[in-house]
Amino acid sequence: MGKETKIITKNWGKINSQNIEAYIHAGGYEALKKFLFEMTPVSGVEEIKISRLCGRGGAGFSTGTKMESVQKEKSSEKYFICNLDESEPGTYKDRMIVDNDPHLLLEGIIISSLIVGANKAFICINGNYRKQAHILELAIERAREKGFMGEGILDSQYSLEIEIFSGAGAYICGEETALINSIEGHRGEPKARPPFPTQIGLFGKPTLVNNAETICNIPWIILNGGHEYAKIGSEKSPGTKLFILDGAIKNVSVVELPLGTSIRELIETHGGGMAKGKYFWFAQIGGSSGRLILEKDLDEKLEYDREAKIPVGSGAVLVVDRTVDIHEMLLSWTSFFRRESCGKCVPCREGTFRLWEIAKRAKDGKISERDLETIPDILWVLGNATFCPLGKFAAVAFFDAIDNFRKEILKEKNIN
Ligand SMILES: Cc1cc2nc3c(=O)[nH]c(=O)nc-3n(C[C@H](O)[C@H](O)[C@H](O)COP(=O)(O)O)c2cc1C
Ligand code: SF4
Repeated sequence: MGKETKIITKNWGKINSQNIEAYIHAGGYEALKKFLFEMTPVSGVEEIKISRLCGRGGAGFSTGTKMESVQKEKSSEKYFICNLDESEPGTYKDRMIVDNDPHLLLEGIIISSLIVGANKAFICINGNYRKQAHILELAIERAREKGFMGEGILDSQYSLEIEIFSGAGAYICGEETALINSIEGHRGEPKARPPFPTQIGLFGKPTLVNNAETICNIPWIILNGGHEYAKIGSEKSPGTKLFILDGAIKNVSVVELPLGTSIRELIETHGGGMAKGKYFWFAQIGGSSGRLILEKDLDEKLEYDREAKIPVGSGAVLVVDRTVDIHEMLLSWTSFFRRESCGKCVPCREGTFRLWEIAKRAKDGKISERDLETIPDILWVLGNATFCPLGKFAAVAFFDAIDNFRKEILKEKNIN
């Protein structure tokens, strides 16, 4: 059984981590000191590579590899971006990090920036997270007073400025190239890759973009070493993950567990099982863009593995019980993607709109034979022909719903 291993949540509920003194007293900023005075950027990146840490923002790409490519770029100007956009519905783990341990995030940002040679970092925060932006502003001030950032950090040769950038709330602006566009003052839409931001990123300079949760692992790895980190979690996917347990369960909560924990264990042990009078129907893993899983899939392990049947995504686990109307769910998913499609490419702009129209007709009991014929085509186009992954995301839950709950969706029409 996956024990709660605490790397990111170790201070949660124990100390007032918004207070820098309390954070320092609990061992905070020791990793920064170790990096500054005992390590080099090259040995820092080596530890991250050994740890096999991969991105917690969804794609699961190797953090060490990305860091190394920015480090190797020859440029006097480089940037680091902490992605705290977190617009995926049902996902609020990064917000909890700021509420519970803002200095852990700052320490991770400072070390990561120095490793890749950036002397300017941005924290791109969801525009609705005003309270968290304020917490971070205060934390930055305190860290500067202590000499942990600014010119000549702790009298070393390293310097770093951190700026908070508040987004306008578009889901697509969590995608790294759209995020970069929006900081530059352009329209928030994705750019073609290559070139990757690690080569040509913010203001045309090499840029490392990492999710807030990913970054919070860095101080632990620097202090304890990559080998120790690689022992946590599963063989394929080391480390821990924040899971958001939500829906028809007893304990709605955010828990940190080793990767490789099964969905059943998440729901039954850590979520306390189904809430009183509720019966499991399905669960959605990874927010609105995540797959739907049935009872038979509950023993699937959640880990970052290209071959995994159920992608971890953002780590949100929404448990749905039998009283929920599948038509409402279809409408909610499709409304979201229709609204959030940035409109840059036709397959997504049109496809998300058509799916939403069909979901509306299904809810009104007016779904037609023609709709049933076109659904596979629309899903194929979204899955295969869109400019960025948002189009693909829009098709995932709809596809699983049609596959598994066709009868319920067509109930009123008596089409089978
Ligand atoms: C539509 C879309 C939305 C995304 N939203 C987020 C987000 O809110 N936060 C995030 O960290 N990554 C998000 N990503 C992934 C980022 O593009 C990027 O891969 C990630 O920030 C890299 O950090 P990581 O390697 O630490 O995961 C999104 C991607 C897409 C396609
Ligand atoms: S897939 Fe959607 S979000 Fe992505 S570029 Fe095309 S229209 Fe924009």
